[in-house]
Amino acid sequence: MSFNFELLHQEKETAARVGKITTVHGEIETPIFMPVGTQATVKSMTPEELWEIGSQIILANTYHLYLRPGSKLIAEAGGLHEFMHWDGPILTDSGGFQVFSLSDLNEITEEGVYFRSHLDGSKHFISPEISMEIQRDLGSDIVMAFDECPPHPADYDYLAKSLEMTIRWAERCKKEMQDTEQALFGIVQGGVYRDLRKASVEALLDIGFPGYAIGGLSVGEKKEEMLEVLDFTVPVMPEDKPRYLMGVGTPEDLLEGVKRGIDMFDCVLPTRIARHGAVFTSHGRITVRNAEYARDFTPLDDECDCYVCQNYTRGYIRHLIKRNEILGARLTTYHNLYFLINLMEEMRDAIQRDRFMEFYRKFYQKYKI
Ligand code: GUN
Ligand code: ZN
Repeated sequence: MSFNFELLHQEKETAARVGKITTVHGEIETPIFMPVGTQATVKSMTPEELWEIGSQIILANTYHLYLRPGSKLIAEAGGLHEFMHWDGPILTDSGGFQVFSLSDLNEITEEGVYFRSHLDGSKHFISPEISMEIQRDLGSDIVMAFDECPPHPADYDYLAKSLEMTIRWAERCKKEMQDTEQALFGIVQGGVYRDLRKASVEALLDIGFPGYAIGGLSVGEKKEEMLEVLDFTVPVMPEDKPRYLMGVGTPEDLLEGVKRGIDMFDCVLPTRIARHGAVFTSHGRITVRNAEYARDFTPLDDECDCYVCQNYTRGYIRHLIKRNEILGARLTTYHNLYFLINLMEEMRDAIQRDRFMEFYRKFYQKYKI
């Protein structure tokens, strides 16, 4: 078994903690933010640039890569690491979210999900077994269980039934993932209901996984609802396994998640907003594409040490974005990822020193939402 999680420090005042995940492709310090590379590329970033900004693990998507270019093609290339020239750890999502959010859904059955591709309408079927086969072909270090991510709002009875099926699916996933170096994570569902979330954790614990994710959040519920779910879900999750909050989020979400004991995050937000000319700064998010920045010859963030902030101005980057120049999106993407990765590093440091809340307060004093 080459996957391991070591809890290195539990902060004194909060549930925040620092740990280390070991995979065959390297170690990951937690809490960590994972850049998203849906199409086997973190849009516009070379792997060398990802290393340069301190990325320790990236994410890719079963659903997209299965549709195009096909997981068998990637297997032929030697797996995702070889195919995309990234030799660090990779986590793949199972398709259990994209099938529900992107595809034209036909039918959810006990066996699996029938859907039409969002690209060309072609018919497909993904089951827990097929999702595992695809992720085996991709060769990711961390594999996610195939789950149903119910919409929000969904009524209690629907969520309870969906959850039971997701648990049976998790068992089937585990059966498919024996005798492999890939680590399979279970996904906690249950909407905004405390008893369902608890039942979900307990059922997954009975099956047994090397890590546990919280899914079904950031799907349209209120921010307070998401934090409340974390407040009652994280404490029932095991201490000695990594906890991954899927699809979250903003700098403030990362802070709130870490405070509650989350170890791993991923989100398309930093890379997506970058392409629309929006960037994080230590004073809050700005849209550098706006006219007000045309003659602003200061860096994106005056407190950022990244390559972009050392060498380019807001005015220049605005010009590039306005002109649809490729470099514009490259520079904003680079900075946004650096910003979140650096934020996580600062949080790890504050946790180690048992000063998390001090860091938390200082962050909010400056960062305006
Ligand atoms: N990404 C964000 N939320 C989810 C979820 O609930 N399930 C899966 N598989 N991926 C997600
Ligand atoms: Zn920067």
